[in-house]
Amino acid sequence: KTIRLSEYRAPDYLIDETHLDVRIFSDYTDVTAQLHIRKNTQTAVATSLELVGADLELLEIKVNAEPVPESLYSIADETLTMNNVPGQFILTLVTRIDPKRNTSLEGLYVSKGMYCTQCEAEGFRKITYYLDRPDVMARFTTRIEADKSSYPVLLSNGNPVEKGDLDAGRHFVKWEDPFKKPCYLFALVAGDLSVVEDRFVTSSGREVSLQIFVEPQDLDKCDHAMDSLKRSMKWDENVYGREYDLDIYMIVAVSHFNMGAMENKGLNIFNTSCVLASAETTTDAGFQRVESVIAHEYFHNWSGNRVTCRDWFQLSLKEGFTVFRDQQFSADMGSETVNRIDDVNFLKTVQFAEDSGPMSHPIRPDSYIEINNFYTTTVYEKGAEVVRMIRRLVGVDGFRKGSDLYFERHDGQAVTCDDFVQAMEDANQIDLSQFRLWYSQSGTPCLQVSSEFSASSETFTLTFKQETPATPGQPEKKPLHIPVAIGLVDSTGNDLPLELEGGTRIDPDNPVLELKQPTETFVFRNIKEKPVASLLRGFSAPVRLQYPQSREALAFLMAHDRDGFNRWSASQQLVVSVLEDMIAGFQNNESVQPDSVLVDAFRTLLTDSSLDLAMVAKMLELPTEQFLAELLPKPTQVDAIHQSREALKQALASSLSTEMTSVLDRYPLHTEYHYRDQDVSERSLRNTCMYYLMSLEQDDVVERCLNQFKQACNMTDQLSAFKALVHSSRSEKSQVIEQFYQRWSNESLVVDQWFMVQASAPQADTLERVKELMNHTAFDMTSPNKIRALIGAFCNNNPVNFHNEDGSGYAFLADQIIALNKLNPQVASRMAVIMTRWANFDQARAGLIKQQLSRVQSEPLSPDVYEVVTKALKS
Ligand code: ARG
Ligand code: ZN
Repeated sequence: KTIRLSEYRAPDYLIDETHLDVRIFSDYTDVTAQLHIRKNTQTAVATSLELVGADLELLEIKVNAEPVPESLYSIADETLTMNNVPGQFILTLVTRIDPKRNTSLEGLYVSKGMYCTQCEAEGFRKITYYLDRPDVMARFTTRIEADKSSYPVLLSNGNPVEKGDLDAGRHFVKWEDPFKKPCYLFALVAGDLSVVEDRFVTSSGREVSLQIFVEPQDLDKCDHAMDSLKRSMKWDENVYGREYDLDIYMIVAVSHFNMGAMENKGLNIFNTSCVLASAETTTDAGFQRVESVIAHEYFHNWSGNRVTCRDWFQLSLKEGFTVFRDQQFSADMGSETVNRIDDVNFLKTVQFAEDSGPMSHPIRPDSYIEINNFYTTTVYEKGAEVVRMIRRLVGVDGFRKGSDLYFERHDGQAVTCDDFVQAMEDANQIDLSQFRLWYSQSGTPCLQVSSEFSASSETFTLTFKQETPATPGQPEKKPLHIPVAIGLVDSTGNDLPLELEGGTRIDPDNPVLELKQPTETFVFRNIKEKPVASLLRGFSAPVRLQYPQSREALAFLMAHDRDGFNRWSASQQLVVSVLEDMIAGFQNNESVQPDSVLVDAFRTLLTDSSLDLAMVAKMLELPTEQFLAELLPKPTQVDAIHQSREALKQALASSLSTEMTSVLDRYPLHTEYHYRDQDVSERSLRNTCMYYLMSLEQDDVVERCLNQFKQACNMTDQLSAFKALVHSSRSEKSQVIEQFYQRWSNESLVVDQWFMVQASAPQADTLERVKELMNHTAFDMTSPNKIRALIGAFCNNNPVNFHNEDGSGYAFLADQIIALNKLNPQVASRMAVIMTRWANFDQARAGLIKQQLSRVQSEPLSPDVYEVVTKALKS
């Protein structure tokens, strides 16, 4: 069934108070819900009340303590309908659920013996019948009762107000959340957990107790999360003026979790992968991820919880804004440029691909079959880009004024994306009406730019042509309001003052051209020599920029642009243009050597000690095969891309082996681990050089790599060496695979890395190995982390093998989707998304993928998988 934004109606009934009593027994759990319901006098048209519930056994139903006769209610299709209810009453429901058999990981379920919940978006209906929609906000109390020795820790939202022992070794705790909230923010945990505690004093003097609950063996991996939490709390006070509002902030780490984490009021539930971190078990990237997810969930307390979404079409209201806030936080904690590069790389690889396929949707979708399918990079990451553009348009101070007004105006409400934009407009007296199209129009705009220098008139002319390709359901596109940050760089590397013909001056501190028409021309005057244009600085808008520049110009920008992001972007464009030559060569069976412009530019990166180490490391990283596949013309040349990228890696390694080897000597293995910028950059640069050199597979480098594998004091260095060895064709690798597993078999998150590295190996026998690993004792088909590490890594990060022209990769994936569809629809559907890209491949491959999609379609499907597969086959 398709749900449409245009059909939104305010709720007919409201719930003011929700009192839950959850009694956990070993074979079942009974939930008593007392709901204080009242007719919504402003809107109510219906006379019957419809509550939703799924996988529930209804044991009791009472209105104002009187049992309701069966003639007065009915249950069909996940709906409990009651006729002729009073205008205001207390509804009591007792439902029985089976958390131990709940493998969907939504609602109440069990992970490694611990009871926990995931209610966003629509999981609460698996706990009791309810008005499971975010515009129904109630005050909650939760009483939890369970066996005391198995489940000593009983948690829910808000503050504990009562606890006590009961007969038969049972006990209870009662929680009260003073803030009204939609049920998707409800959470409950029962388990045998250890806790790490700290405190934070807010700017107004409220003392907050901070608690992170984990399994006992993980107690030593909570410091980084705790530290990140305290920094997030401080940062949100300083940058957004937002203070925490309860006396406790709890985080619980859970092994089986569909996503990264969940911002339940006062009781965040986290995937272990987003909270646990230690030098021995976690890479630098892992540390970075923990920091940003902790911040993300904390920031939701305001952007999401205090001000929430009216309906699920507005998801980007909280997610786009909160991703933007966590990106700003990470930028402030480390290097702004490096963070920006990583974020844009991800956006261009994953979101651009999504937006050009059959699942393309605007950041505020206008219809869905299953909302879980819309927790996408479009809603999250493109949503964050849209907020970032607003900030650029209204300025830093204007943005703060706008966010203050938004929080003040809508505190305690469930609102829309439009309310957010309205607050930004009202606080800044600006008109964002055309800008609003970013919320409703899908697809990635393409921005074609041409330039012309006239020596005689001393002008430089830039012409922009914007065009958004058609997407499913949106054949016609309108021109968008696009901010393009620019600079014109002179031969000494300085930005020229920008003055438009006609005299308009452009703000030298924030030089931005605002595009609104399909085609727009800007003529800059007093330009005495031909400049090099640096366009879309900082990636000021989520568009595909097409501005052909010579390799010399790119190398120049790479060395001189004062915008760090564009220095990196120039280096990427240079690499891509060289790779395009090599790919063309590959298709004609001739080997093309990389252009010396690139080799020389890379040599400078490796030898000029005045350069920023983090930037050097970033610029030396070759774009991934997935990034190239997204960028280059279709049908995607899977093998040519892989072979050419390998050839480029080897050519650079052999031309620059002296320089790369001296980097290894200059930055020897650290003997102590610190997660700090300088060290992270050194490790990253050394490991990048190691990765290049290992492509030559010479004995001396292999020796170094083996040593690093054995001696590394931290997971970043050990895993880099492990990956380089496993992805080589050297015979040492089987022993290394064994050793790594023996060393880390008790660390589930490290075992995930072990699966991932093997699943992404380019060797031809990888699929066989993946199938073998599915039978490994450490693999677990009920664990999303394991599925992503093994199946996900093979299908997403191993293009040559997954897209093997014999179709074996596609058949394998279809088998897994069919199996997962029954166990965990959300995860199954994520896997199915991979198959939606069939149109990007040659006819033979496209045909094979569609065959597998049809095979999946012929199964009885969950709405999640059904939506993805149908949309993929319809296109
Ligand atoms: N709100 C969570 C976050 O971004 C994610 C919840 C995802 N839930 C889902 N059903 N897909 O922090
Ligand atoms: Zn979020």
